[in-house]
Amino acid sequence: MRIEPMVGALGAEILDIDLSAPLPPDTFAAVRRALFDYQVLVFRDQKLTLDQHKNFARQFGPLHIHPYILARPLDGHPEVLRVVKEKDDRRVFGEKWHSDVTFLTRPVLGSVLYAVETPSKGGDTLFANMYAAHDALSPAMRTMLEGLSAIHETPVPEVDPETGRPLEPLRLVNRSGEHPVLVVHPETGRKLLYVNSTYTTHFKGMTIEESRPLLDYLCQHATQAAFTCRVRWAPGTVTFWDNRSTQHLPINDYHGERREMHRVTVET
Ligand SMILES: [Fe+2]
Repeated sequence: MRIEPMVGALGAEILDIDLSAPLPPDTFAAVRRALFDYQVLVFRDQKLTLDQHKNFARQFGPLHIHPYILARPLDGHPEVLRVVKEKDDRRVFGEKWHSDVTFLTRPVLGSVLYAVETPSKGGDTLFANMYAAHDALSPAMRTMLEGLSAIHETPVPEVDPETGRPLEPLRLVNRSGEHPVLVVHPETGRKLLYVNSTYTTHFKGMTIEESRPLLDYLCQHATQAAFTCRVRWAPGTVTFWDNRSTQHLPINDYHGERREMHRVTVET
């Protein structure tokens, strides 16, 4: 396999690799290392069945089942989250900058997203590097943030928006998590900024109103252009991201066309 870095901030294309079969140990080790070095890995022209997709992800850790999204499940594959935007849909899944499921006490390692159907143009995904966001803060700001924790919450619908059926509340482990604002990545030992505009509601011990100005600043700071890369999709593109050190934003610019992605998420 070959690694081609995408841009200055983060991201790499991984070439000459087939994800449909178990990776040989040295290749697995190289991919795992690249994931933590580059944070976003892009693999082109892959052909994966649902089982092959899950088996690839499973090499990196146990699979995660999303705690409350039940819309459009795939029969027999609760670990595969089907992300679909139909031609007539105006909204897109996960439409603001975020890391996935940070409202959980134990954040997930990362996700493997596989493009099944893509629009003729548009539907790219932006990723941002939270190490870079941390490193660019002034020393005084870092010192101030050092003692702060933030609350991450999600509003959970009581019924499935599609079917109207009640969701299974037992699957939701928790809907509110508390994390330090500056987190040390357990694999790399590097410090990163860990707040996002989708799930982070306030700093622990402060009101939402008190938290808002600094939180807004940090979220804006974290996603500035110099810290990002942009992944363009085609059917067969696979992107594997380190969910702890990145945020992502799906761009909603393809009205009138259909897009279908399959996401499998790996626990820590
Ligand atoms: Fe997401």
